[in-house]
Amino acid sequence: MEVIKSNSELKVWRASARGDTALVPTMGSFHNGHLSLIQRARQRADTVIVSLFVNPTQFGHGEDLETYPRDLERDAALAEERGANCLFAPPVHEMYGRLHATYVYWPELGSRLCGETRPNHFQGVATIVLKLFNLVRPDLAVFGRKDGQQVLLIQRLVADLNLDIRIVVSPTVREPDGLAMSSRNINLTKSERSQALGLYAALRACKERILRGEWASESLVGTMHEALGQFPGLRPEYVEIVDRDSLCSVESVDTNVMVAAAGGVGSTRLIDNLWTYEMEGAIGVEL
Ligand code: PAF
Repeated sequence: MEVIKSNSELKVWRASARGDTALVPTMGSFHNGHLSLIQRARQRADTVIVSLFVNPTQFGHGEDLETYPRDLERDAALAEERGANCLFAPPVHEMYGRLHATYVYWPELGSRLCGETRPNHFQGVATIVLKLFNLVRPDLAVFGRKDGQQVLLIQRLVADLNLDIRIVVSPTVREPDGLAMSSRNINLTKSERSQALGLYAALRACKERILRGEWASESLVGTMHEALGQFPGLRPEYVEIVDRDSLCSVESVDTNVMVAAAGGVGSTRLIDNLWTYEMEGAIGVEL
């Protein structure tokens, strides 16, 4: 596996890449969730490139940009083990020149859900993802469903800007007790770790009720708040049931919603979600 740090080297590598190329954009600190994205890319394409860039423009004031976990050597070894052909790990000045002034954003969709408390976050995500798409020119790109709003917005970006890239959505990878894997989980103390399970408990309760035929959002949100009440160390930020295209709240669940929840435990912010889908004329749930 080649490790590349500059755009010029990337250009040379890309010109020689064979067949369909899959991009897996990451910020590193790999856990099994990232590794499953790389594996999925491996199954779908001839060539796999993983980008590793802790993107400063998606971190807000007072967020964890400086302390975000970084370990290039370990990540490179893991990416290679899972079959990546190239790891693109540029320094900040390579991605953002001194005069960088162009940003991409979703005025409406980027200010909903996580965008309410992280005002410029999705603008940073859109900008870096579009830059990576332009540099790598992948045939497909793999993103995790765990970052539900992010993947829905990237699907919107690709459709709206006529990008010829297939977006593959990979299922959330969970710890045995259900906690969604996240690079930030390593910051949780033992007692915070047990409280962090609240989001999963709330979503699981919601899933059970949907599968039993309760589709009214108000009632389902109530159930989730009840479940969250069992986890006093978790500060809920939002619990919402939204349409996956508009990200607007819906009155009742259909086959195209995301039930999304976010909250804080200690100094760690956590998100999780479930998606509904059509299953033999009924509503299926993917948690
Ligand atoms: O999901 C992430 O790790 C980041 O938001 C992404 C997509 C790599 C952009 O920096």
